[in-house]
Amino acid sequence: MKLLKDKIMSEGIVLNDSILKVDSFLNHQIDPELMMAVGKEFAARFADEKIDKVFTIESSGIACALTTALCLHVPVVFARKQKSELMSSEAYTTKVYSFTKKVTSDVSVLKKFLHEGETVLIVDDFLANGEAALGLADIAHQAGCKVAGIGIVIEKSFQPGHQRLVDAGYHLESLARIKAFKDGKVVFEED
Ligand code: G4P
Repeated sequence: MKLLKDKIMSEGIVLNDSILKVDSFLNHQIDPELMMAVGKEFAARFADEKIDKVFTIESSGIACALTTALCLHVPVVFARKQKSELMSSEAYTTKVYSFTKKVTSDVSVLKKFLHEGETVLIVDDFLANGEAALGLADIAHQAGCKVAGIGIVIEKSFQPGHQRLVDAGYHLESLARIKAFKDGKVVFEED
């Protein structure tokens, strides 16, 4: 997606050989027009699926999931990283390990927001090791939902997430695929 790649080139900061900082448009400040374009692109790429809900994880997944859901005219549900007292047995829960932060989080969704037989589209901002996407897929399966596919805004193709999701049989669409960070610059995979 050219608009996204241009934004990464102009505003992304390569912090080291594995981390890209994009807090001016995706992870802290959010560019709403870019997020609308992202939502339209995901809606187009999964147009052949009948999607009932868009499913993501707080916090940075919410903006791109919301615009996708707006384009598909369906609700968006986001998994919470902190299980509140209210959630207890009324929630589906899974564990997600963050290689970046070196912590394992319990991730939960209230049962009343995902129903057996529904088809969900998983959307997230980054794909690194695939832990978040696989955790969301686990919750969807616990609820008896079908996963139509996984939409990722920025994929770091040199990390294991892409292969793990493809090996698990998911239809994966990533809007910007980064092959490497070289000399402080982003190198994209060919489209
Ligand atoms: P994984 O889900 O693919 O396994 O990724 P990993 O555990 O490595 O990433 C944990 C967190 O770090 C996630 O955000 C993920 O989006 C983010 N992340 C991974 N690689 C990068 C990167 O190169 N740049 C940036 N900016 N973020 C990266 P999170 O902890 O869930 O944070 P948030 O959604 O609350 O912002």
